Amino acid sequence: MNGTERLRVGVLISGRGSNLQALLDACAEADFPAEIVLVISNKADAQGLARAESAGVATKVVPHLDYASREAFDAVVTAAFEAAEVDLICMAGFLRLVTQGFVNRWRDRLINIHPALLPAFKGLDTHERALAAGVTEHGCTVHFVRHEMDDGPILGQAAVPVLPGDTPDSLAARVLEAEHKLYPQCLRLIAEGRVKIRGDSVAIAESSPRP
Ligand code: GAR
Repeated sequence: MNGTERLRVGVLISGRGSNLQALLDACAEADFPAEIVLVISNKADAQGLARAESAGVATKVVPHLDYASREAFDAVVTAAFEAAEVDLICMAGFLRLVTQGFVNRWRDRLINIHPALLPAFKGLDTHERALAAGVTEHGCTVHFVRHEMDDGPILGQAAVPVLPGDTPDSLAARVLEAEHKLYPQCLRLIAEGRVKIRGDSVAIAESSPRP
């Protein structure tokens, strides 16, 4: 990639797509160093598909129930992203486990946003579990995807306070607001070429090595 080309990004979604919207909004800014070239959903009724279409971004539905195995599903997704020549895939509320083959194919080029401060609260119902655990801080994490679910080098985190009287919904709304800021910031870091993965962790260069 040279100094003028923007990073080509594919996004995987399953539903509402508010994180996708945050990425689309960032990419619409003139100086943002990435562009979304394809959005794939495993669900035909995902709200995020309409968001992509409104932004003029290509979409594709790959219904997981049409495939006999996860491998077959992932192969179709990979072929579509390859045809779109994506440099990076962002999982944004994509609620499917991906195969080891998929993780290997896109190693260090596949990131996910999770609604908790990893390594705390991997998996589902993170806000309920954070409240039940009595933590005073909760938040979200963007990380590179590895074989273990919700695991992999951490690219960025944003913390929010847990307030007295919080419900899972009020806490989720506070975390979601943080997600919408964090994900574009992390995408920018990668697109500026500032991110190096060293073993299990990420090193971020102070400023862009690109001209
Ligand atoms: C987000 O909170 C995201 O962090 C979470 O699903 C929500 C999707 O919302 N992802 C996971 O739980 C993945 N383990 P969105 O569709 O409005 O972006």
